[in-house]
Amino acid sequence: MQDKLVQIEKEFEQDAAQIASVENLEAVRIKYLGRKDGEITRVFKLLPQLAVPEKARFGQKINELKEKISQRIEQKAKELETQRKQALLSGAAAGPDTSLPSIKGRIGAEHPLAIVIEEICGLFVEMGFRVMEGPEIETEYYNFEALNIPLEHPSREAFDTFYLENRCLLRSHTSPVQVRFMENNKPPVQIVVPGRVYRPDATDASHSYMFHQIEGLLIDKGITFAHLKGVLGVFAKKLFGEKTQMRFRPHFFPFTEPSAEVDVTCIICSGKGCSVCKQSGWLEILGSGMVHPNVLKAGGIDSKIYSGFAFGMGIERIAMLKYGIDDIRLFFDNDIRFIRQFS
Ligand code: DAH
Repeated sequence: MQDKLVQIEKEFEQDAAQIASVENLEAVRIKYLGRKDGEITRVFKLLPQLAVPEKARFGQKINELKEKISQRIEQKAKELETQRKQALLSGAAAGPDTSLPSIKGRIGAEHPLAIVIEEICGLFVEMGFRVMEGPEIETEYYNFEALNIPLEHPSREAFDTFYLENRCLLRSHTSPVQVRFMENNKPPVQIVVPGRVYRPDATDASHSYMFHQIEGLLIDKGITFAHLKGVLGVFAKKLFGEKTQMRFRPHFFPFTEPSAEVDVTCIICSGKGCSVCKQSGWLEILGSGMVHPNVLKAGGIDSKIYSGFAFGMGIERIAMLKYGIDDIRLFFDNDIRFIRQFS
């Protein structure tokens, strides 16, 4: 037994002297102190074969050896840690230091237009509207005729656009989705439609050949202008603040009758008059009205039974007012420094 213990100690000293890494250290620890099959456990298992006085003597000796090995391993662990730190400080460590805190990743940011679209659609969803989308490449029929804009009518110019082949075009507003939806869905209808629209406008600080709109459409039995005012009133207060006032100015849109443009109290000067509202105290934010019977008809809905209201707003304008942005081109420059400011 004595020989055995001496041999284990000798062998351990040899192994310990060769430890060069945390992995080596762990392997040596398991070889000698491993609970199941370590050298120490093995010699403990030999004890029952000894006579009683021997048992006590060697039991103690084994424990002493175990303690010695444990201490030596702990000391080795400390040495390795010190070596690691010194290597790091001197820059001699191979490979990257995985213990350093990471550099924050440069991920993108949500675009201000996406934020505003999400917010506005969210407000309407709270009031029971569903969010729908429609195609950006439209036919002349849906962009004009179905919306009560006849071929020779002067109002067509206001919705002029880019023409493609086969009587297709880039939609100049989101209103075509009104008729597309009515064709496939029976009333009650209650949708909002965000999306891109196109106009052949020269680009400047307030114009872009591509911009975004949100369309709204609600159709049911007995819907009146009062419902339109109620829904838009809640919307304006939620988006611009509880004190926001609204006014309806009579206007002409071919697809609604009567039609109105809706203004809110200037969010910059609260209605006192400033350069943004051109001293009027009001800001125009959307067009609206009662859906024209011809439009209901195009959608396959009987205007003797059903009535409804519609509205459409430009997102860039609202986002510019909300965030105090003075040039529409900033939205489309794709400059991350600009985009990061809003989310
Ligand atoms: N489509 C119109 C535009 O692009 C906006 C609009 C006005 C939509 C009145 C409507 C509406 O649904 O009722 O200028």
